[in-house]
Amino acid sequence: MSSCSSSKLSLMLFLSMSMSSLILVAVSGNFYHDFEIMWGGPRARILDGGQLLTLSLDRVSGSGFRSKNEYLFGRIGMQIKLVPGNSAGTVTAYYFSSQGPTRDEIDFEFLGNLSGQPYVLHTNVYSQGKGDREQQFYLWFDPTRNFHTYSIIWNRRNIIFLVDNIPIRVFNNLESRGVPFPKSQPMRIYSSLWNADEWATRGGLVKTDWTKAPFTAGFRNFVANCCAWSSGSCSTKCATAMQRRAVLDAAGRNRLRWVQKKFMIYNYCTDFKRFPQGLPPECKR
Ligand SMILES: *[C@@H]1O[C@H](CO)[C@@H](O)[C@H](O)[C@H]1NC(C)=O
Repeated sequence: MSSCSSSKLSLMLFLSMSMSSLILVAVSGNFYHDFEIMWGGPRARILDGGQLLTLSLDRVSGSGFRSKNEYLFGRIGMQIKLVPGNSAGTVTAYYFSSQGPTRDEIDFEFLGNLSGQPYVLHTNVYSQGKGDREQQFYLWFDPTRNFHTYSIIWNRRNIIFLVDNIPIRVFNNLESRGVPFPKSQPMRIYSSLWNADEWATRGGLVKTDWTKAPFTAGFRNFVANCCAWSSGSCSTKCATAMQRRAVLDAAGRNRLRWVQKKFMIYNYCTDFKRFPQGLPPECKR
């Protein structure tokens, strides 16, 4: 498999020229090589010679996988096709996480819904064990019809969440204001499909319809550019590139505004009720 095809290069669409130097190591994944099934054994399957992975949830249990490699910075993502039809009560989690109680974590979680009702994309950032930085979005497409790309750009200065290469959220390094930033703990990529009908859909009002089980989501085209954390270090070239902030160009900034205006349904930074003592420091302009 080519490791740096032009379609991978088009991932850079909304980023400034300075970002293009970041394509140093482009690894297109094979699920056999790069991932391992973590739990739910027979409900997680690697197919098509490693090109496709499916997770299922049935009455017995869900399933999950994780990357064998750890990553420290880079542009990392894959394509996901979510549980179709009545997926209410199911959650497909897809996240990047280090280990231990002071872990860093960058989360995408897809909360299922009744047929024809919108999924919610829930995002969060944990640094040194502390999260509480949720933003939620509706998507501008039906995420169950086709595969769509969900990725992050992660460097020392900021984290950008992207959906089909459209930036939806930027989390800046504001250590200068005392906000810890994930920058020293390598992370694995995790995904799991599980039942969360006590809270996921309309706050738990809509329960999982087990007559529709098994519920199945598909994963493919894993791509990681840069810092695979092997033998304890990134390549120097890559580590240097990752000192730099990823800068959105004008088109990227417009897209980000568009998503935040039209599709964001929750932002912790505007939840004054939740933070009566004042919003978290990273929320101040
Ligand atoms: C499910 O659909 C309802 C009704 O459109 C909506 O209010 C809700 O945000 C959707 N998503 C979830 C996860 O409940």
